[in-house]
Amino acid sequence: MNILDILAKRRDGGVHDAEELRFLARGAATGEIPDYQLSAWLMAAYLRPLTLAETAALTVALADSGRRIDLSDLPEPLLDKHSTGGVGDKTSLVLLPLLAACGVTIVKLSGRGLGITGGTLDKIESVPGVRTDLTPEQAKEQARRIGLALCGQSPDLAPADGVLYALRDVTATVGSLPLIVSSILSKKLAGGSPRVLLDVKCGSGAFRSDLQEATELAVALRTVGSEVGLQVRPVITDMDQPLGRTVGNALEVREALEVLRGGADSRFARFCLDLAGRALALCGLDAGAAERVLRSGSAWEKAVRWLEAQGADLRRFDEGRGLPIAPVVREVPAPTSGWVRRVDARTVGSVAMRLGAGRLHKSDRIDPRVGVESLVAVGDRVEPSQPVFGVHAASDVDAVRAGESLLHGLELSQAPVEPRPTVLLEP
Ligand code: URA
Repeated sequence: MNILDILAKRRDGGVHDAEELRFLARGAATGEIPDYQLSAWLMAAYLRPLTLAETAALTVALADSGRRIDLSDLPEPLLDKHSTGGVGDKTSLVLLPLLAACGVTIVKLSGRGLGITGGTLDKIESVPGVRTDLTPEQAKEQARRIGLALCGQSPDLAPADGVLYALRDVTATVGSLPLIVSSILSKKLAGGSPRVLLDVKCGSGAFRSDLQEATELAVALRTVGSEVGLQVRPVITDMDQPLGRTVGNALEVREALEVLRGGADSRFARFCLDLAGRALALCGLDAGAAERVLRSGSAWEKAVRWLEAQGADLRRFDEGRGLPIAPVVREVPAPTSGWVRRVDARTVGSVAMRLGAGRLHKSDRIDPRVGVESLVAVGDRVEPSQPVFGVHAASDVDAVRAGESLLHGLELSQAPVEPRPTVLLEP
C-alpha cells in the first residue's frame, strides 16, 4: 500500500477500504506520511466527502492510532458527556458530580479552550490546587472510588486526529462533516465509555450556526457512533446567546457551584437538569433522580469529594472564596429601555477572550479571573441604566473597552420578545 494510490483514489472519487484508512491514520501518527500528502488527502476528502462506512472506518483507525483506554472493569453504567463547544458552557462541571451522585461512572477526558470556545480543563483549573494531569490509571482509580474523574487528553489518545486536526485548521478543511464526526468520535472511542451524551451547540457562538447543519451533524454523530459501537445521544442546544450568566473560567466555576449547592431555579440549572435526565435515561436509570440528588445535597457532596480528590483545598473555599477574583469589576448599563431581542454569544465570547479568559493561539496563557457576566437573556425587559453586563477585568482600560464592545452584541426591541429555549431539539 502506498500513499500516492490512496491520494489518487480519493481524488478520483473511489471508496477507501478500512485498511487504507488505517494506513493513513498510522502514517499521520508516526510522521511517516508527510504533512503535504496528508493535506492533499484532506482537501480531496473535503471535496469528495467520505461515505458513512468510510467515516466509521476512519473513526476506528484514528482511535487505534494510539492508546484506547479500557474502562470495562469500572462499575456500570459508564457514560461520557461531550459538547461541541460554546460560550459560557460550564455544563460538565455540574453534570459530572450530578450524574455520579445518581450512580453513573464517568471518566471524562477534556480539552482546553481555543478561540471563543471555553475548555472544561481551564475552568476547573481555576479552583486553587486542582490538578488535571491524571494518568488514565489514576483517573480510573479515582472513578472507581468516587464515581468520576476529569483529566486532560494525553497525547497518545487518537494521536492521528491531533495531526489531522492541526492540518485541517490550516488547509480550510475543518468544515467537512465526515472529518468532524470521525475526529470527535475517535476520541470518544479511545476514551472507553460505551455511551455518550453529546451536546451539539447551534448558534453564533458555536461552529454550527444553522439548525439544519447542526441537525445533520447530530444525526451523523449518532449514526456513525452506532457503526463503531458507541451509543450516542445527541441533543441540539442553543448557542446564540451565552449559556447561563457567566463567561470566564473562575466565574463559570462559581456559577456551576451555585447550581450544585441547590440553586435549581436558574435557566442554566434547569438546562443542566434537562440534560442530566437525558443522560440518565441513556444509562437506563430514572431521569427524575437528577433533581432529587440536587435537592438532597448529595450532588454537592459528590462535587466536594471530586474537587478534593483532584487536589482542591476546600478549607479556603466557602461560597466561592478561594476562587481568583478580577481586580476591576464594572457594570455596563442598558443604553435604553426595551425587551432583549439578542445577546450575541459570539460577541460576548470574543470580548471574554480579549479580556484574557480565552486563547487566540494554543500557546496563549489564560487569566482565570476575568470574564463577562451576561445579566439579561432574550425576552427580558430592561430599563435605561439597568446593568446588562458585568465586566471582570485585569485593568480599567480593559474593562472600559470590553463594556463598549459588549453593547454591540445587545439588541433591544420595543415590542415584547419570547424567551429562547435552551434545548432546541433532539433529532
Ligand atoms: N471537535 C473536534 O474534536 N474535532 C472537530 O473536527 C471539530 C470539533
